[in-house]
Amino acid sequence: MNLEDYSFVQSFFIVLWIMMPAYLANTIAVVTGGRFPIDQGKKMGDRNRILGDGKTWSGLLGGTIGGIAVGYLQLNFGNSIIDGIAGTNNETFWGDTPFLIFFLLAFGALFGDLTASFFKRRQNLNRGDKYPLLDMYDFIVMSLLLTLILGGGWLQTWILDGIVPLFTLLIATPILHRGVNIIGFKIGLKNEPW
Ligand code: CTP
Ligand code: MG
Repeated sequence: MNLEDYSFVQSFFIVLWIMMPAYLANTIAVVTGGRFPIDQGKKMGDRNRILGDGKTWSGLLGGTIGGIAVGYLQLNFGNSIIDGIAGTNNETFWGDTPFLIFFLLAFGALFGDLTASFFKRRQNLNRGDKYPLLDMYDFIVMSLLLTLILGGGWLQTWILDGIVPLFTLLIATPILHRGVNIIGFKIGLKNEPW
């Protein structure tokens, strides 16, 4: 099976469903993060931090494990949701190596966010400063890239198949990302609403 077996609306929600470990990994990192900066406070030749205090081991580990946990919950307890949307069992969507996919999606999201911070620091931007397009797509791009390289064909079946998935991600990602961050800001988890 692949996405062509589903309608446009179904495809839209399937894409959001299967990318959920990536979407939530960064949110979980905000909760677990803040301890043990990955760059250990070190600076580069431009006198700015390599990554900054916003990129920590506790965020990277917590977000990765949390994202895998999200996938596990989806796989084991999400059948009624995905069945309602697509009329299909969960196993169809996660392939033969679901935990590898969960890991790649979650770790990729955190790694993308970390890579973006590296570039933000090189532009003299401080922790939390805005970097419009990069901030919104960094995590999803790296998630897709890692899954493409290491996911054994999973991404080719479900995301790189026709234009609907990429369209979905392009439109939905900034909205979801911003939405979650506004909630995080309102409940005091995040310092900025972006
Ligand atoms: N966080 C973390 N470790 C990570 C990712 C996130 O500890 N690998 C936590 C940090 O407390 C961070 C918060 O989640 O401040 C929000 O993440 P993000 O918006 O990505 O970081 P910023 O503080 O905006 O820093 P930057 O400018 O480097 O993006
Ligand atoms: Mg930020």
